[in-house]
Amino acid sequence: MGLQQEIERRRTFGIISHPDAGKTTLTEKLLLFGGAIQKAGAVKSSKIKDHARSDWMEIEKQRGISVATSVMGFNYKDVKINLLDTPGHQDFAEDTYRTLTAVDSVIMVIDCVKGVEIQTEKLMEVCRMRNTPVICFINKLDREGRDPFELLDEVEEKLSIKVRPLSWPINMGKNFKGVYSLYEKSLHLFTASKQTVEEGIEIKDINDQELERLVGENNAKQLRADIELIEGVYPDFDVNEYLEGKVAPVFFGSAVNNFGVKELLDSFIRLAPPPKPRETTVRVVKPDEQKFTGFIFKIHANMDPKHRNRIAFLRVCSGKFERATNYTHVRQEKSIRFSNATAFMAQDRETIEEAFPGDIVGLFDTGNLKIGDTLTDGEKLMYTGIPSFSPEIFKEVINLDAMKTKQLEKGLQQLMEEGVAQLFTYEIGKRKAIGTVGALQFEVIQFRLKNEYGATVQFQPQNIYKACWISSKDPKKLNEFVDSKQRHIARDKDGKLVFMAESRAWLQMVQDNFPEIEFHFTSEF
Ligand code: G4P
Repeated sequence: MGLQQEIERRRTFGIISHPDAGKTTLTEKLLLFGGAIQKAGAVKSSKIKDHARSDWMEIEKQRGISVATSVMGFNYKDVKINLLDTPGHQDFAEDTYRTLTAVDSVIMVIDCVKGVEIQTEKLMEVCRMRNTPVICFINKLDREGRDPFELLDEVEEKLSIKVRPLSWPINMGKNFKGVYSLYEKSLHLFTASKQTVEEGIEIKDINDQELERLVGENNAKQLRADIELIEGVYPDFDVNEYLEGKVAPVFFGSAVNNFGVKELLDSFIRLAPPPKPRETTVRVVKPDEQKFTGFIFKIHANMDPKHRNRIAFLRVCSGKFERATNYTHVRQEKSIRFSNATAFMAQDRETIEEAFPGDIVGLFDTGNLKIGDTLTDGEKLMYTGIPSFSPEIFKEVINLDAMKTKQLEKGLQQLMEEGVAQLFTYEIGKRKAIGTVGALQFEVIQFRLKNEYGATVQFQPQNIYKACWISSKDPKKLNEFVDSKQRHIARDKDGKLVFMAESRAWLQMVQDNFPEIEFHFTSEF
């Protein structure tokens, strides 16, 4: 098979949702269709439940699970599907944001009882930044959910994306009868907990009396009225608008009952894009270019503290990746070779010889790779669009064991390279502040520093509202600003200047007083 065909048959995506909407359940059903697992229950939830907050074994166990299920590759109808798992727990949102830079599209799961929840809103913001195509799956139709029209309005409003239903439910909860596919013009009748999937019943003409026979008079009447309304309110589905991230096709179903999942998967492989061209610092790279390029979007530490090696997750963007070949590590300007490369097929990892655009390769790394690094076949370009976001919680690191300063430095550096949190080093006094999205990371960091590096630390809460990356067209003005705000200036892991704002009001005031300075909330600007 040629490079072009390999690219065309790949679909690399992620599932996003608020915890408990049904991401794990849906993942499992998709894997069952792909033949990647044999029975339900094989995919462990990668969510860290609240009750496990201080249970270290639990966190470690979860880390193990999450590496095993980080990438699930499977074949379905000749399509190679790469499903990238995203942590459900909101404290690990930053990890999810980065994983979303490595996908070509997403499926968003919404609970029909709860509607659009906060975590979905945040994740959707990240999708919008990159115009990622989104398919929406409204789940748990076997429960008494909210009115479907109301749910669609909420998606449009809260997620700022247009929607277009491609299937429509006939009732919900106890009276849930099934869904009508507007795309295929067929009816799928619901039976709870079914293991097999029946083909839909073709109903080309919605006015066909067969509908009455299948769902009853009232339901048939309601469905016809709903469809008339849908066709009046929503413009025809335009696949290009979906591919540009402007409109999300919507499907309804019940993941736990394996209902609507096959239709979702069949539509997904038909609609979702194969790997697309990507921006770099130098030029746009097309996937079908012969020369290999790719970037690192995730790093996972070895579970065994005695072995420092890590697994770096590489997304192949162009050409063919081959094992035991010399590639250029652009940031370090050196040649690097991986004799041990693994693919992720379902829950197994297997050594691979080659990989194509869209594929994710696991590379064993001994400390050369950082998140955001680019590997190429010689060309000096770097992939963009893997920013750090301003964290939300900041704490100062207090070293409790002066004898272990070196270990602490090293541990902090390595944990930051893995993307566990962000480190900001103040210009004055070189004090170190760690910024995270959630409180749980501090517990993880403290534990791992002790367990893996022998360093003992404490965290002192800091009164910081946001870390803003700063720049100015006028270097003199930037210097003046840095001088006047010295106490609040730090550097990030790449040495970029950051202003540590203590409150929203104060930040606003500083922005007003220094109009020549630009304040950015992500590290890429
Ligand atoms: P998450 O990964 O998004 O956090 O959600 P997960 O799949 O773990 O699902 C959360 C809960 O919702 C699970 O129940 C799951 O069984 C249930 N669920 C998923 N899909 C459906 C559906 O279509 N209908 C209904 N009624 N429930 C659904 P749980 O009680 O938390 O766990 P479990 O004991 O069932 O595993």
